[in-house]
Amino acid sequence: MAPSSLRATWLLTAGMEGIGYRKITGCSSSARSAACRASKTNKEKPEEGSMLRVSKVLMFAAIALLVSGVVIAQELKPITLPAPQTHGGKPVMDALALRATSRDFVSTDLPMQTLSNLLWAAWGINRPDQGKHTAPSSNNKQEMSLYVALESGLYLYVPESQLLKQIHNRDIRKATGKQDFVEIAPVNLIYVSDLIKAGVSNPDKAGPEALNTSAINTGFMAQNVYLWCASEKLACVVRGWVDIPELSKAMELAPHQRIIIAQTVGYPKK
Ligand SMILES: Cc1cc2nc3c(=O)[nH]c(=O)nc-3n(C[C@H](O)[C@H](O)[C@H](O)COP(=O)(O)O)c2cc1C
Repeated sequence: MAPSSLRATWLLTAGMEGIGYRKITGCSSSARSAACRASKTNKEKPEEGSMLRVSKVLMFAAIALLVSGVVIAQELKPITLPAPQTHGGKPVMDALALRATSRDFVSTDLPMQTLSNLLWAAWGINRPDQGKHTAPSSNNKQEMSLYVALESGLYLYVPESQLLKQIHNRDIRKATGKQDFVEIAPVNLIYVSDLIKAGVSNPDKAGPEALNTSAINTGFMAQNVYLWCASEKLACVVRGWVDIPELSKAMELAPHQRIIIAQTVGYPKK
């Protein structure tokens, strides 16, 4: 039983003035005087004000840290791909005979093994002793980056460790092109040139001609994907119809990183 008519309690409060602690008072059932009821609305005493302000600031800082921690934790979830299966598939001549563009996709995800094989075909390392790739690179500048837009976010393919480094966790498939199927298909590849690696002077202001050799390099990578898709009976289309400024923004690219083209891969509609 409460010995007096007033009980003091510190409550966590939230309101127009923000989040903080407030000292409130309550009346016991046996004491219902006007003074008691009036005391319930009393806020903190003046000398408690500065302490409360400090605690409010600390509380906000703690919440901000907590929220940013959660966001960072969500954004940095890499996908470790299984080792690629680098044998088998159709003979090259059969794959060439079957290579074709298809724009009819279903939304079914590719299994991780299939995604790993696809990325290795596009840009994997096939000579680990030299760190060289399945596609050639003009002057061996190796300026290409292969980004992968999945439902779970945007990733950068890291061929040295066969993993997908997560750039962010937003589904930007729709921003990868101006055709309806891009948001349905499970995988959209985006080929990006790093003009610093390409040795272009003043890369942030370089014009489209600076991308010529990167565009040729990209052609080899995209054809690798076409042939691999032909071998695996997957649908594939390389796409230049892309809003490049919009996609660069969605990908959070730096000015020296330039999109060359995109390519969609998935299971075909029956
Ligand atoms: C550089 C380039 C850009 C292309 N851009 C698009 C595109 O934005 N959208 C699309 O549906 N197809 C695109 N295509 C695919 C072509 O339309 C396709 O290759 C052509 O119709 C020939 O068909 P095939 O690939 O089956 O031989 C592009 C092809 C190339 C080589």
